[in-house]
Amino acid sequence: MEESGGTEAQKRRAGESAAGVVDDGDVVGLGTGSTAAAAIRELGRRVESGLDVRGVPTSHGARRLAREVGVPLTTLEAATPDVAVDGADQVADGDLVKGGGAAHTREKVVDAAADRFVVVVDAGKPAPALDHPVPVEALADAVPAVERRVETLGGAPTLRAAERKDGPVITDNGNPVLDCDFGVVDDPRALAAALDGIPGVVGHGLFVGLADEVHVGTDDGVEVR
Ligand code: A5P
Repeated sequence: MEESGGTEAQKRRAGESAAGVVDDGDVVGLGTGSTAAAAIRELGRRVESGLDVRGVPTSHGARRLAREVGVPLTTLEAATPDVAVDGADQVADGDLVKGGGAAHTREKVVDAAADRFVVVVDAGKPAPALDHPVPVEALADAVPAVERRVETLGGAPTLRAAERKDGPVITDNGNPVLDCDFGVVDDPRALAAALDGIPGVVGHGLFVGLADEVHVGTDDGVEVR
């Protein structure tokens, strides 16, 4: 029986819709998270049917899934992505908060390098304004200094704790992550620039002015914004 409602079905619809924009011969940035995973799985099915693509993974997880479903891989050194497909934790006015899976630093590199960046989300992600805590990846030695600078910007930082391991989450790049609650972010561009200017910050999850389109999975289908 065809599934209808529910977040998982919405994610699947968004991911499959975005995988549909990929053309034969494209290099594709492969995002991280459950919605991007739906796109990678759909790409795997299309490859099985003869589509010629190469993927640039944004994380160990994306690389592993792409291998599992048969999407051939390449690197940013070898190729520029024609399109990147990636999820988000919140979307407002085309700006994003990402990094729920702590992959935002590499995601930003790949998504920004792509000619076209397609965001895939379920219907719970669009919001009137960004107020989701912003993940900030920082060098371990810099964490106390970064926390102080985040506080002067009006944020409340929390070191992200690992599950089933003592201590903090450590990213694919070997760094901890601070989830920084700024309340409603009135000026995402200014906050992004301020975070970029903090010594020791490796990458943050505010993606401003990068998305070209957002595919929102709903209970009925997909809205492209
Ligand atoms: C990974 O670090 C994130 O940027 C994800 O893309 C984001 O958290 C969205 O994940 P879901 O699609 O699983 O909600």
